Amino acid sequence: MSKLVKRVAALVAATAVWSLAPQAHAQAWPAKPVTWVVPFAAGGPTDAMARDIADKVGKQLGQQVIIENIGGAGGTIGAGKVAKAAADGYTFLVGHMGYMGAGPSLYKKLTYDPVKDFDAVFRFPDTPLVLLVPKSSPFKTAEELIAAAKKAPGKINFGNAGVGSTSHLIAALFESKAGIDVTPVPYKGAAPAMNDLIAGQVDAMFDQSNTALPQVAGGRVNAIALTSLQPMPQQYPNVPPLAAGTLPGFEAATWYGLYAPKGTPKDVLAKLHAAYLKALGDAQWTKKMADQGIQLLPEAQYAPGAFAAHTAAEVDKWRKVAADANIQID
Ligand code: MLT
Repeated sequence: MSKLVKRVAALVAATAVWSLAPQAHAQAWPAKPVTWVVPFAAGGPTDAMARDIADKVGKQLGQQVIIENIGGAGGTIGAGKVAKAAADGYTFLVGHMGYMGAGPSLYKKLTYDPVKDFDAVFRFPDTPLVLLVPKSSPFKTAEELIAAAKKAPGKINFGNAGVGSTSHLIAALFESKAGIDVTPVPYKGAAPAMNDLIAGQVDAMFDQSNTALPQVAGGRVNAIALTSLQPMPQQYPNVPPLAAGTLPGFEAATWYGLYAPKGTPKDVLAKLHAAYLKALGDAQWTKKMADQGIQLLPEAQYAPGAFAAHTAAEVDKWRKVAADANIQID
């Protein structure tokens, strides 16, 4: 038994604490397919991660988990819909650090509160990002791109998955750390942005390293830098971390997880959480994720309650970041 499988088995036992809630609802649930809303276009990183996890969790539950894509406004449209959905255990939101962490600091008129309107169910593994350019790009390194952006502020444009998406946030962080000015070009998800990057319609883009991998390996785009602190020799040989070049200490990864509308029965949440932990006990699956560069989390992050605490801490963190940088979208 691998170390992770053993740790997950211990956590499954720990979940019993959460499931002390009344069992009547959980026995009947799920009596029909469950929907997870992905608030981006199909085919992007959030969609791919959600489909993979939904498949494994659905098998544990003995019921289908359907993915519904509701894209737009950096994930905030889909998140707002789930916040108002019936809290009956059949609609959930796949959330990430953009609209569920930074969202409240960026959008003045957000229609939901990530902490007050949702129950955080469990956190997915994290994914670092990769800086990509079209095949025809003159930039072979991040340093070349930074030098060109310094000479012509605003001229280089960066595709992203929508205002406040992680591809947008990380590009903004990159801009601020590098002391450059680039022009963001928002799409309804990373998948349509990637199509335009391949076609050379945009100059660059940060994308999740796992979903970008087939595009890079297939020779459709070039990877020039990583946002992980460490190199990723298995997935991206010869691609340096930004931290190894002119941006020491630069580190970023996207966090994701599953949220329920506030008030969803506690026994449903406990059953769902236990199904996820059981799925994570599949060593072949976790190895496959690790092979793609997906970062499995320290065991404490899988415990009941840990994801709610993480979400609240991230909302606070981004409030400080946005206030310091004076960022607001509407
Ligand atoms: C993001 O940049 O926020 C995600 O990559 C969006 C997506 O999954 O399409």
